Amino acid sequence: MPSYAITGAARGIGFEFVNQLSADSGNTIFALVRSGATANKLAELGRHNIHIIEADITDNKALKNAAAEVSRSTGNSLDYLINNAGFVEPERARLTLDSYPSEELLTKDLLDSFNVNVVGVIHTINYFLPLLKNGKAKKVITITSGLGDLDVTMGADFPTAAPYSISKAAVNMVNAKYAAQYKSEGFVFLALSPGLVDTSTRAPTQKELEEFMAMVERFKNVYPDFTGPIMPETSVRMQLEVINRMTIDDTGAFISHKGNKEWL
Ligand SMILES: NC(=O)c1ccc[n+]([C@@H]2O[C@H](COP(=O)([O-])OP(=O)(O)OC[C@H]3O[C@@H](n4cnc5c(N)ncnc54)[C@H](OP(=O)(O)O)[C@@H]3O)[C@@H](O)[C@H]2O)c1
Repeated sequence: MPSYAITGAARGIGFEFVNQLSADSGNTIFALVRSGATANKLAELGRHNIHIIEADITDNKALKNAAAEVSRSTGNSLDYLINNAGFVEPERARLTLDSYPSEELLTKDLLDSFNVNVVGVIHTINYFLPLLKNGKAKKVITITSGLGDLDVTMGADFPTAAPYSISKAAVNMVNAKYAAQYKSEGFVFLALSPGLVDTSTRAPTQKELEEFMAMVERFKNVYPDFTGPIMPETSVRMQLEVINRMTIDDTGAFISHKGNKEWL
């Protein structure tokens, strides 16, 4: 009975991981949500193999309690941890590092991104490691982004979304550090990019649409055939295929939903 813990599971890609994995009643899913109040979509799935646990990944006490709850349920083991929760600053993604209206805002966006996308991921892994050591799969997947790749940044001339991109580049190194440490114990650590995925919860404004199309045009420098975002269903199906395929020989990799360095 494989067990999975997924952070940021209330919506978007995290929700879709829960949805697809829980369709197999043999799987046990621990859906970690920042706030129980947002878990209605998960509850509506009405599946007995989904356990909803409240945990903001920047709150170590909440993470400790979440790991203890999973431990009680599984007899102190866990097979897969999927670090999906992520912070994207919604207002200032179009700014470059030198075009912020104030130093304070730039510092805030850098620290907020680092706090959730890097520090929160490290603490999550540390709290769940003792359980993962007793699991059969020993797979830790951290959802990263192609925006954390140096080659795509230069290839697409992409100077914006800097705090987010910097935090994702950093978490790729986090993944490598754990992989280097735990390869000898049979662990597979993956930094996995989901592609560009439409997880919007409302229609975009005209300004957002224009900005998005400008970004698509830049990506076309690197991926001429790119047409637009994929849906969470497709992304998660492809990511699960990659997760299932990867072995100890792949530990530490930073790859996409396509299983390679093709980010879109
Ligand atoms: N969508 C894309 O195109 C894309 C591309 C590359 C990488 N990614 C990565 O894929 C992951 C999921 O993206 P998404 O598009 O599904 O994002 P999303 O729709 O914005 O959802 C983000 C999820 O993370 C949760 N979260 C944020 N801060 C948290 C915290 N401190 N503690 C616990 N949970 C927290 C959110 O909780 P609330 O519901 O409470 O806000 C939400 O459930 C992220 O790591 C993102 O960086 C996405």
